[in-house]
Amino acid sequence: MAKLKLSGISKTYGATVALHDGALAVDAGDVHVLMGANGSGKSTLCKVIAGSVRPDAGAVLIDDTPVTISGPRVARALGIGVFYQELSLAARRTVAENICLPDLPMTAGVLVDRKALAARAARTIALFDGVAGDGFTADATVDSLRADQRQLVEIMKALASEAPILIFDEPTSALDRAQVERFFAIIRDLKAQGRAMIFISHRMDEITAIGDRVTVIRDGRTVGTWRLDETDTATIIAHMVGERSEPPGARASRPPQDETMSGPEARAPRDIALSVRGLGGSGFTDVTFDLHRGEILGFGGLHGQGQSAVLRTLFGALPRSAGDVTRGDTALPLRTPREAIRRGIAYVSGDRRRDGVIQGRPILENLTPIHYLRQRLMLARPSVLQQKAQAAVDALNTKFAGFAHAIDSLSGGNQQKVVIARWLMDRPDVLLLDDPTKGIDLAAKADLFALIRTLARDGMAIVLYSSEDAELLGNADRILVFNGGRIRRELAGADRTRYNLYHAAYEAA
Ligand SMILES: Nc1ncnc2c1ncn2[C@@H]1O[C@H](COP(=O)(O)OP(=O)(O)OP(=O)(O)O)[C@@H](O)[C@H]1O
Ligand SMILES: [Mg+2]
Repeated sequence: MAKLKLSGISKTYGATVALHDGALAVDAGDVHVLMGANGSGKSTLCKVIAGSVRPDAGAVLIDDTPVTISGPRVARALGIGVFYQELSLAARRTVAENICLPDLPMTAGVLVDRKALAARAARTIALFDGVAGDGFTADATVDSLRADQRQLVEIMKALASEAPILIFDEPTSALDRAQVERFFAIIRDLKAQGRAMIFISHRMDEITAIGDRVTVIRDGRTVGTWRLDETDTATIIAHMVGERSEPPGARASRPPQDETMSGPEARAPRDIALSVRGLGGSGFTDVTFDLHRGEILGFGGLHGQGQSAVLRTLFGALPRSAGDVTRGDTALPLRTPREAIRRGIAYVSGDRRRDGVIQGRPILENLTPIHYLRQRLMLARPSVLQQKAQAAVDALNTKFAGFAHAIDSLSGGNQQKVVIARWLMDRPDVLLLDDPTKGIDLAAKADLFALIRTLARDGMAIVLYSSEDAELLGNADRILVFNGGRIRRELAGADRTRYNLYHAAYEAA
């Protein structure tokens, strides 16, 4: 008997069919993985179960009893807890309040019962003791937290519901390795307690580590369900992409071409796009490297060892406390992003909610701010602009209904593609990629990296920080491994192995 069963679920938004005949059966004590390309309907299916989206048709059964989930409150009463991909936190409220929302304990029905609140939150917070990071306390307000910490609060909120049915829609996209391991240990406990769980991720390593069964969704239809130990990655990807025969995920891990060309010693000084000497800033010191035109320079190491801060400093978004950045004989002060953009430096962040998306505004408007800055155009003919924008989003296979639609109407991964496409409209000289594929599906990742390699071959200088080892090993010509805010090791040529990467990342950690 399935704990939760859905059949014939459909949902359209205007002309977009988000779900067409969605079906799913989740057993108690199982982690049921949902896989599918960006925009295939995974989040929509979750929202139907959570009561935040009303389906046009379909049936939901809990313990074999038909139910009508008419809203989030009803879902909670039916024992459903949700982690939302785009998070559902109140930014001004504290960690403890968010964990206990929407059922804050009250005294006499009007005032929040602080003592009861603290006790209830403390139990959940304790689950992530030692991995939640600096500044993570029950009293901290959510808007003061880092992206990974906000994601932990959303996880805690779902866990605190103690619901028998739990949905996790991409809960790990901002977490570091230690946080993911802790979270998975908690999930294993919940499994042992017989909870039924839905888990969405685009990371194959996580899926095989925690999943029991997988259901693949393609274009709003559920294709089928398999036991994970009875299938393999290539088969799953084939189901995800359907007609395409070559599994696109395989392309992302192809080793870089022309390896002989990539050594720094083979290059003339005029090929240096950025010379960084003794750079210091928030959380890193003494960072020195040359970035060459035509290379993809990888930043590796455990999450949060200074990689992202270095990139944001080079982009002028964080202040520099020491060191120089030069190009040829010219010193680049890079005090603001505006200055960096004018110097041809681009920055793509995986944290689109903080750095990328202009919420509530049309897709076209989300694509064009950089274009305006670089071209210094106050007026451009809309048709020309739209043509350039179209080419940029097409290059990444972005799925959307029209430029005039609000960016919020796109699926998470498609929003991230818009953020990347923004930089492709006017080719920068230096492209800084800060874990850029968060939430992007396997096929689109492969497309993105194929594009990045083409840009590098055409002479662009690219820095790639990725929290996924396969992305680094498969695409970077050399890798600088960060540890404790310093570059500890450079891996080039045959040294670029998973073993060396792990070793350098963990040895002083
Ligand atoms: N509120 C909305 N208004 C209009 N269209 C929407 C809305 N929500 C979702 N869609 C569309 O429905 C489709 C399915 O979106 P959904 O968010 O379920 O995809 P997903 O599988 O979760 O993708 P991702 O992996 O990128 O998170 C997409 O084409 C999306 O643009
Ligand atoms: Mg989604």
